[in-house]
Amino acid sequence: MTDYVSAISVRNVTRSYDGGVEALRGVSIEIAAGRVTALLGRSGCGKTTLLNLCGAMDFPSSGEVLIAGQATGSLDDAKLTALRRGTIGFVFQAFQLLPSLTALENVELPLLLARANGTEARALEILRWVGLEEKAKALPFQLSGGQMQRVAVARALVHQPKLLIADEPTGNLDTLSGDLVLGLLRRAADEFGAAVVIATHSAEAAAMADVRVRMRDGRIEGIEQVEGSAQ
Ligand SMILES: Nc1ncnc2c1ncn2[C@@H]1O[C@H](COP(=O)(O)OP(=O)(O)O)[C@@H](O)[C@H]1O
Ligand SMILES: [Mg+2]
Repeated sequence: MTDYVSAISVRNVTRSYDGGVEALRGVSIEIAAGRVTALLGRSGCGKTTLLNLCGAMDFPSSGEVLIAGQATGSLDDAKLTALRRGTIGFVFQAFQLLPSLTALENVELPLLLARANGTEARALEILRWVGLEEKAKALPFQLSGGQMQRVAVARALVHQPKLLIADEPTGNLDTLSGDLVLGLLRRAADEFGAAVVIATHSAEAAAMADVRVRMRDGRIEGIEQVEGSAQ
């Protein structure tokens, strides 16, 4: 079995919501750098909850989530903001582009928030990487769903995050557009060494993943690993 560098350690995590729903009930998994991990299972099994914990957007009720060796639950707000802005990229099912900003401006925004230099050149570079340089000046309403999601992937990757987290990224797309988006997520792992975690119902997404995590009722039922080259 090849050893992979762990980017996220989820250790015996539970997550209960107000009202008593136990969304996660003792989940442990190592999420590897340079690999695509797919979270699979029917609606309500806890995929989004686990993704939010992996992205330090939410915290365990018990157990711990370590990102780059740090337990997310022990970080203060400043450190959490730095972690999210510096280390993590998010892609959502509904794209969540800002409608009044151009494609380029949407991609540039995380860099501006992080007060980086050379933001426009970098945003253009990653927009080229997703194949949408010619749409730089377009507003979201002028783009197809697939193009919007590719802009969202560019935005998620613009700061070269170690973790790329995608919640049903092809859920609103036709097969062809979905495949293009999945290809970009695959390349983020292969070319940038990102740990890519995708919650998905899509058979295509499951097929291209290196690790398939089957979830049911807040638990991991099984983990299937595809062997590959170590990072
Ligand atoms: N904010 C919330 N408050 C209360 N219950 C929630 C909340 N978010 C999710 N749940 C519940 O937690 C369980 C897991 O949900 P979720 O993680 O969204 O699953 P999935 O993404 O696999 O559909 C479900 O029973 C859901 O209804
Ligand atoms: Mg979900």
